[in-house]
Amino acid sequence: MAARVDGSGDELAVAYRRLNAAYQQTLCYAEDVRRLYQQVQRAIYQSLLGLANALEAKDSYTKGHSERVGAWSRGVATALGLPAAEVDMIGQAGLLHDIGKIGIPEAVLRKPGPLEPEEWVVMRNHPLIGAQIVSPFDFFTAGALMIRHHHERHDGSGYPDGLVGDEIPIGARVIAVVDVYDALTSHRPYRAALPHATVIARLGEAAGRTLDEDAVSAFIDLIQTLSTGKPDVGARPSLRAPHRAPRR
Ligand SMILES: [Fe+2]
Repeated sequence: MAARVDGSGDELAVAYRRLNAAYQQTLCYAEDVRRLYQQVQRAIYQSLLGLANALEAKDSYTKGHSERVGAWSRGVATALGLPAAEVDMIGQAGLLHDIGKIGIPEAVLRKPGPLEPEEWVVMRNHPLIGAQIVSPFDFFTAGALMIRHHHERHDGSGYPDGLVGDEIPIGARVIAVVDVYDALTSHRPYRAALPHATVIARLGEAAGRTLDEDAVSAFIDLIQTLSTGKPDVGARPSLRAPHRAPRR
């Protein structure tokens, strides 16, 4: 029961102590909420890594590619001054951008030579499949859109929806730039990896045409400040050793 406060020193002291106790209790509740939020965040990240591992089980090359795209996309998003929550989302979507390849038949995904037109039709479903896979995650709605649109192009020549310029979510524009760089600087069964300088020049040519100009500029600044070509993305258990290069 609350004490009646009539102005006497003792009763004021009692009221003050109770108020202070309530304040301390509130601080404890806030700390509990903060810890719970961190646990949820960790669980979310673990579930995303689980999805990335599932893709790795089908296509081991994708692990390195996905992690680089995730880490670099996060760096570009930060350089563009995006809010911390959006930077996190872009990093996670970068990690999972090709998750839809889980749904692509191995005969197409691992074909050693050029794809036939009908096989490209199948391959180009992977952004839609990926967005569908992550759609149950309510917290990841924006990330699902980035995955859906990571092959859109600034001039409308991309897929699946032919979006133009700012119609493409900023996260998808960032991931597209990083994805192109990493794909062209990686070895494929049907072509050798291109030199860093050649790919940087190509990105410069594509800026404002097929790729977002600001994202290209931020990425080039970022990649040139790194002492190594590949980011440290931390340890993650490998599921399979064989190396096969995927198609974009
Ligand atoms: Fe892709």
